[in-house]
Amino acid sequence: MNFKIAPSILASDFTQLGNQLRDAQAAKADLIHIDVMDGHFVPNLTFGALIVEACKSSTTIPLDVHLMITQPERYIAEFVQAGADGITIHAEATPHVHRTLEMIKEKGIRAGLAVNPLTPLDMIHDAIKFCELDLALVMSVNPGFGGQSFIESTLPRVKQIRNWCNDLGSLCDIEVDGGINEHTIARVAKAGANVFVAGSAVFNQEASVAENIERLREKLMEGRKEEGGRRT
Ligand code: DX5
Ligand code: ZN
Repeated sequence: MNFKIAPSILASDFTQLGNQLRDAQAAKADLIHIDVMDGHFVPNLTFGALIVEACKSSTTIPLDVHLMITQPERYIAEFVQAGADGITIHAEATPHVHRTLEMIKEKGIRAGLAVNPLTPLDMIHDAIKFCELDLALVMSVNPGFGGQSFIESTLPRVKQIRNWCNDLGSLCDIEVDGGINEHTIARVAKAGANVFVAGSAVFNQEASVAENIERLREKLMEGRKEEGGRRT
């Protein structure tokens, strides 16, 4: 399986956004994760389509737009126009999840569905089965802020979704978001995730963006080797 690292710009230095994106691109990040928050669905406010547009002009890495907003259906066209390559909505953000996923897919981009740490998973199962979901996003913190600690009880949820994907023959990506760092990433991969959002573990003062991404990749490879070792 192809592992993908998705740096979240929420933790980046906004005064240097273009440079931070260029650093991520030089370090071969697979996706750029953009956290849109509306102050209603989550307690925090961040940015809208204008920032997506700015990112689009600074990088060729696909933009993974995570909408933590109520009634996301009102903004799909705007974010697609701004350059989103994939849009993820939250299960509780609209009564019309099916319609909204269809709207996203009709625009020719990837459709994702996110679940909070205690959101029942059934909707993910049905979205994989009936909507050809492209990405299932398992929140491993309560959405709204970067830099929070990973919630361990979300690991079996990742595993459950991986089993469903296998049973249904789905190629849906399984993305985990929140508290991903060098200590958690291998366990999350082992549970079955293949896309890893990382904000504070990529954009920080301790090391460069390239060093941080490399460290996460190393941990993924170490975990993969251990897995292989146990199987043989
Ligand atoms: C949280 C956001 C995350 C956030 C992750 O609501 O959805 O994408 O940027 O930040 P870290 O990696 O610092 O936990
Ligand atoms: Zn996010």
